[in-house]
Order: sequence, then structure tokens, then C-alpha cells
Amino acid sequence: MNKFELSPAFLIGHDDIDSDHAELIKILNEMTDSFMAQDTKRCHEIWQQFCAKLNQHFIDEAKVMAGFGYTEEKENSDHQKILAHIDTLGGQENTLEDWKNCLFEMRNEFLSWILRHDLKFSEHLITIGYNQARP
Ligand SMILES: [Fe+2]
Repeated sequence: MNKFELSPAFLIGHDDIDSDHAELIKILNEMTDSFMAQDTKRCHEIWQQFCAKLNQHFIDEAKVMAGFGYTEEKENSDHQKILAHIDTLGGQENTLEDWKNCLFEMRNEFLSWILRHDLKFSEHLITIGYNQARP
């Protein structure tokens, strides 16, 4: 199974947010390693770390965005939906196949969360002059 990658196109241009995203990707890659080692117990442990980190990330990110005058109600409700959904993916009784599906879903969904929400914030940072437009 391929590793997760954070391509430069998904960098937001705010250090805290970008390092959080990198950390989330790192956790998912640790989970991929555990999946490859067929260690379902470890997958579960790492998944719990991922859920906790994602929860904290959404809280921290909302604060950063609010600090730049950027608030979007929809973003908060979507975060809640995402958290509720990922809660259903990683049960203790998961089989290797369940973890495989979980990782595939993360691969498909994770980047689209960034695309839908954080890239709009990235544009906001350019609009207000915090960052320069990329060439
Ligand atoms: Fe984010």
C-alpha cells in the first residue's frame, strides 16, 4: 500500500496548519506500516491517535482562521460531520480488511477535506496580503 503524501499544492501557507497536516499524514503513514505488518491492535492504537489529533487540529485551525478574520459556519459543521464519521471507521474489533478500507477512505477523503476548506483559507491569506500568490 502506498504511503500518504502532502503535495506542495496542498500547503496552506500558515506554519501551524501546515505542520499539523504533515503530522496527520505522518500518523496515517504509521498506520499504513502497521497495516502492512498485519498488526490490527496497533492500527487501532494509531487510529485513536489520529482521531485525537484531528479533533485538536480542527479546534486549533478554527482559532487560527478566526484570528485572520476568516470564519465559515459551514466549515465547523463539516468538521463535526467528519469527526462523527471517522469515529465509525476504527473500532477495536476491526479486521485487517476493515483497516484497509479505512486507509483507502482516508486517502480519498483526507485531501478533499483540505481542498474544500483549507485551500479557501489559503486564498484568504493571499487576499489579505499575509502570503504572496504562488507563481
Ligand atoms: Fe486542516
